[in-house]
Amino acid sequence: MAMQLDPKAGPIGIFDSGYGGLTILNAIRKQLPQYDYLYLGDNARTPYGSRSFEVVYQYTLECVRKLFELDCQLVILACNTASAKALRTIQQHDLPLIDPNRRVLGVIRPTVEAIGNLTKTRHVGLVGTTGTVQSLSYPMEVNKLFPDVAVTGEACPMWVPLVENGEHDSPGADYFVEKQLNHLFAADPEIDTLVLGCTHYPLLLNKIRKYTPPHVALIVQGAIVADSLADYLHRHPEMDQRCTKKGTCRFLTTESEEKFATSASIFINETVVATHIVV
Ligand code: DGL
Repeated sequence: MAMQLDPKAGPIGIFDSGYGGLTILNAIRKQLPQYDYLYLGDNARTPYGSRSFEVVYQYTLECVRKLFELDCQLVILACNTASAKALRTIQQHDLPLIDPNRRVLGVIRPTVEAIGNLTKTRHVGLVGTTGTVQSLSYPMEVNKLFPDVAVTGEACPMWVPLVENGEHDSPGADYFVEKQLNHLFAADPEIDTLVLGCTHYPLLLNKIRKYTPPHVALIVQGAIVADSLADYLHRHPEMDQRCTKKGTCRFLTTESEEKFATSASIFINETVVATHIVV
């Protein structure tokens, strides 16, 4: 389908399957408050974590195209599942056809860059969606940069639904967090660094800390992705010029506006007014 691409500057697009990307948006806005942001949550089709490569790629591409139509020149996939399953194809196949001057960046590479220097035992644990863990994107990226580091992944299919349904502080969350972490640390007791490889998981941070051995460092992605974006914009002034800077933030959802506004308040400390869109 032909797209009307607007060559002028626009807000930075932040995309997630649902609300999890708001944890990344918060950290980015804290570090780079001068930019304009356009957040898109594909809440009508969340979760992505249990879906096939083809479906995650298709959904993610539709959302990226929508953000491009709305003038975003740079889009961050603030979702590990989309970064794992769709980013490479979008960067290599779709961007050259849509507009070679636009950029789509993910959250896995910056996270991997940060962990290699933190682990002493060289044993790293990863918690994420089934899609992220089964894609092996983390072990493959880690292997490129730090071949001596072993990654053990634990798929946690219940964690995103707990967060999306506001159950992250409930006893039900205790049950599922303890169960998956016990399984992970039994599989590799030498883990000294645990990556929260899903943007929803900061909401479960207290429970994850509770069931993680105290000597294990927890890696939360928000600040890492924000640092990486600041560095990217510094190194690419041509892109920086095409990102508008009035300090605004707008929210789009594929679900109902009321539902988004209510649930987003779990993640973000301000009144959210969302606009419904069809991608
Ligand atoms: N927030 C997404 C991530 O970082 C996962 C949510 C989902 O399963 O849709 O992986």
